Amino acid sequence: MTDQLLSQKNILLCITGGIAAYKAADLCSKLVQAGAHVDVVMTEAATRFVAPLTFSALSGRAARVDMWTEAGGQPIPHVQMAAAADLVIVAPLSANTLAKLALGLADNLLTSTLLATHVPWVLAPAMESHMWSNAITQAHATSLAARGALLVGPGEGRLASGALGVGRMAEPVEILAAARAVFARGGPLAGRHVVVTAGGTQEPLDPVRYITNASSGKMGVALAEVARDLGADVTLVHAPLAMPVPYGVDGVRVYTARQMCDAVLDRLPQTEILIGAAAVADFRPAEAASQKIKKTPGQEALTVRLVRNPDILGEVATRRAQTGLPAVVVGFAAETQDLLANAAAKLAAKRLDIIVANDVTEPGSGFGADDNRVTLLFADGRQEALPLMGKREVAWRVLQAAAALGGRTRQEAEAS
Ligand code: C5P
Repeated sequence: MTDQLLSQKNILLCITGGIAAYKAADLCSKLVQAGAHVDVVMTEAATRFVAPLTFSALSGRAARVDMWTEAGGQPIPHVQMAAAADLVIVAPLSANTLAKLALGLADNLLTSTLLATHVPWVLAPAMESHMWSNAITQAHATSLAARGALLVGPGEGRLASGALGVGRMAEPVEILAAARAVFARGGPLAGRHVVVTAGGTQEPLDPVRYITNASSGKMGVALAEVARDLGADVTLVHAPLAMPVPYGVDGVRVYTARQMCDAVLDRLPQTEILIGAAAVADFRPAEAASQKIKKTPGQEALTVRLVRNPDILGEVATRRAQTGLPAVVVGFAAETQDLLANAAAKLAAKRLDIIVANDVTEPGSGFGADDNRVTLLFADGRQEALPLMGKREVAWRVLQAAAALGGRTRQEAEAS
């Protein structure tokens, strides 16, 4: 799938002197794979860590270092590169260059080029923790952020010195996500608040055991990511996931269906689009034992009584009937038989706008898989069968369908 946000974009990737410069090679490669045109500018110090040739090879364009070497018939390279750029990424950003950028200094090709740009800057600082925590660096970082720069990281972890602390450059995937978030500003869901539920709830039997299901949370995470890329403010209410909450998404971790229900209902007054992608346990053990359940000699069976959990989307439908919010509600139907009939019944019972029907027995689709083959069923009777595609692409289709319903309430949609 082409990357809707980064494809054909001109990215000025700036690299300063720090050991994390080696990670910038991966970032450069990921940007190129996403279809971006990448121009690389390095400081002299950066070339001590990674050779310009590495970036020239990865980007397919000559990486530039020197202000005074005329290259490719460009007598004033910093002005031309600055004018061509849609976005600047500085990764890693050293304490030295961070200070220069904050002060508007222009003493090398990198800083001169950046001073000449009028596009957003994504900055990924990387330095020893004492340099980062120094009040001077903090003041410069605050001043850059106040001028609109998007700072990503630094994170906490093992630093080049071997010490543990804050100062590690954000991972390339995070920086990529930040770049996408910048291009997403003003997207079709800009200013909208989207809540997505994800993962399989865990219903405790005792302090060490629980009942759960095979949901990986991948579909919900993809939905959160794509909603963010369309410009939305996204909250992901999730049961434990095998992957991190995407950059720029507000994660709310829950375990049980009841916790998930409370977290969703609490946010309902601010939710414009709700997507229920979580696999919520319909039943939970009637009591969770306070101590680990022991087997006794000769015991052949253990009976656990289960009681009903709340139906989250059902509760949402009741409240929505009074408030009109969320304007759009999307549910998922993971089925093993009679897919469309079961999905249509749920669409009606939960008073959804869209249900995403998904036969989880199909090979390569459904729980844990990277792909999904789904059919979208709409409240007005429309159906859209989609071919097998990546979960991120499914997420685009679902969110585009949800965005197309826009802010219209269900009542308005039914009346039209
Ligand atoms: O009824 P069923 O569980 O098959 O419906 C699936 C849809 O309903 C999903 O969108 C799921 O997130 C949601 N659901 C819910 N509360 C439950 C069970 C499922 O909101 N207790």
